[in-house]
Amino acid sequence: MAPPRCGEPAAARAFDAGLFCLPLLPAASAEGASGQVTLRPAPSPFGLAATAAGVPELVLEVEAAGLPPLAPPAGYVAWAVTPMFTREVRLGALRAGRVTSGPVALAQFLVLVTAEPDARGTARRGRPVLRGTSPSMVLQPHGANALPPRALAAAHAHHARPSGWTMPPMHPLAPTMPPGLEQLEPAVAPWLPEGAAASLPEARAPEATWLAPGDTLELVAAPARRTVRGQPVVAYAYNGQLPGPVLHVRQGARVFVRFVNRTALPGAVHWHGLRLVDSSDGAVGLTQAAVPPGGSFLYTLDVPDAGTFWYHPHAREDAAQDLGLAAMLVVHGADDADAPRRVHRDLALLLDDLLLGDDGPIPWGREAATHALMGRVGNVLTVNGTDRWRLAARRGEVVRLRFANAANARVFNVSLPGARLRLVATDLGPYAREHWVDHVTIAPGERYVVDARFEAPGAVPLVNRVTAPHPASRGFLEVVDTLGVVEVGDEPAPPLAAPFALAERPAVARAHARAARAARGAAARALLLTLRLDTLPFGLVQAMRLDTAWVMPVEWAGLMPMMDWLPTAREVRWVLRDEATGRENRTLDWAFPAGARLRLRVANDRHTLHPMAHPFHLHGQRFLVLARNGVPERDLAWKDTILVPPGTSVELLVELDNPGRWMFHCHIAEHIESGMHGALTVLRPGERAPALPHDHSLGGH
Ligand code: C2O
Ligand code: CU
Repeated sequence: MAPPRCGEPAAARAFDAGLFCLPLLPAASAEGASGQVTLRPAPSPFGLAATAAGVPELVLEVEAAGLPPLAPPAGYVAWAVTPMFTREVRLGALRAGRVTSGPVALAQFLVLVTAEPDARGTARRGRPVLRGTSPSMVLQPHGANALPPRALAAAHAHHARPSGWTMPPMHPLAPTMPPGLEQLEPAVAPWLPEGAAASLPEARAPEATWLAPGDTLELVAAPARRTVRGQPVVAYAYNGQLPGPVLHVRQGARVFVRFVNRTALPGAVHWHGLRLVDSSDGAVGLTQAAVPPGGSFLYTLDVPDAGTFWYHPHAREDAAQDLGLAAMLVVHGADDADAPRRVHRDLALLLDDLLLGDDGPIPWGREAATHALMGRVGNVLTVNGTDRWRLAARRGEVVRLRFANAANARVFNVSLPGARLRLVATDLGPYAREHWVDHVTIAPGERYVVDARFEAPGAVPLVNRVTAPHPASRGFLEVVDTLGVVEVGDEPAPPLAAPFALAERPAVARAHARAARAARGAAARALLLTLRLDTLPFGLVQAMRLDTAWVMPVEWAGLMPMMDWLPTAREVRWVLRDEATGRENRTLDWAFPAGARLRLRVANDRHTLHPMAHPFHLHGQRFLVLARNGVPERDLAWKDTILVPPGTSVELLVELDNPGRWMFHCHIAEHIESGMHGALTVLRPGERAPALPHDHSLGGH
């Protein structure tokens, strides 16, 4: 089936026309002609197709009508050009009035259709007959809102106010703020963990911990000290490690974890991605009560899938997880049995960020989360808990890097310029076909596994590169943060048994294809990700309205930290809405028999006051992403978390093989706190659907 096009009715289209359609208007010489361009996500293993610099990658389908025929070799050719005509990309010659381009990565562009004397030519010569502008061209400058320099200087003090609140530092690239906002504070009290950093033991780096079948690990969450940008701060750590110990388990094993809560917050441990028994899922309010400070809980972990997982709290993650409670879990099995032949080492890298002021972290909200709209985006980026991550490697060494994103809200776009990267696997298993990649785009909750080969001696930085709208201009700007560095030595690594090449896994491909076929005849549901606002300050709402003429597919960077800080989970209601029944969040009442298949469409409403990308996560099951914006996915893999940019939709095929009550939610910590979670029931044979209302609040809602 052909992917949907602009001009089709919205219901059939699966994406927002304002963001993905571009009308073509005729030049004076071509009166009567018309056309349109459908913008489609380029093929990509990631939730957003983008370049290593974070520029979205699109495929353009250009259609034109009403153009007089030209005699060959003359013909009509479509081009994408940058606003200042500094770059142009030939999209192709129109045949029967249409052409589909290869991937195009331009932040802002015009589309031109020209009448060329020779349609095979590679340079644009002919006169334009149709033209249009990319939706991103409507980007508005924030210059009108600039604060006078004095107010700005005052606003730049990031020490605690009498209220106890510290204002988040402005982004260095965003020297403007809507006037009147500088006096505002979130409508909750500030909260910081008690104690002095100096009196706490410094957290250690994560240690690899192998668990054999039947083993029980004691996992203690307790305060510790961490040093960020040279500042000692109070953190929470698992077993004195930040992030916590990397647990290694063999596929199919059953192991136990006794969690002991020595923090000041009610806790629980969620085993993200594991298809285990629901009573051990750690979903506070749904499958267990929060473990009070001083309490403990015994978890039974089953690991049917080989893959890369992680664990974290599931009550007030916006604070507890942000303070350092996050760690990785690797399940080894048949799918990576070839690893010793293919890689020298296997490392788990947990990406995170922290929002730091001059006197330590910006406080969290006591009664409810702050940053409820945007999520709390930190200004210090960390790898395995440190802002100075270092790795020593040998020349030619191949290192398996398992990335997980534990940030509250930040989508990372990491790369290792100078290393070759082979994409091997994602959340719950490998790709059927591996790919060379030059970056990894990873949303909160997701995992991607790449094998990096360090070819030449020298320093290879690990960078986060993004391209974001510049708040003070109409243009875009590249922002690069260096997360760490790999020092590649002169000494060569011993040769590996297998060459550094791409593998294919036909058995995995067959299993994916078999699973995807079950989409026909599966139960169908559609969720809309949307937003309701109750009482936000008027000035803030006005400033936000200016911002929504066009929206970034992903807001990579927190360029407006003050505005992002103010809204709390009390004022903001993020919504998962069943499009058929209108039921929302906690009142969703889906139940399916075990073994059923669910075709789930998740669409992200672009017509809200704060459209943004949401990482959608389902507990205890696995799914395939079959299509994005109606375009069938090129490479399938089992996942539990997928990024859904605004105005787009994803089509998921969900396996419902694991009975129990399972939460699904947006993985932005502040969005769960703002209501963005629901649950589904997978019924055991003979079991009946539970009655509603069922209390699975996360405390406070
Ligand atoms: Cu990692 Cu409910 O999530
Ligand atoms: Cu969200």
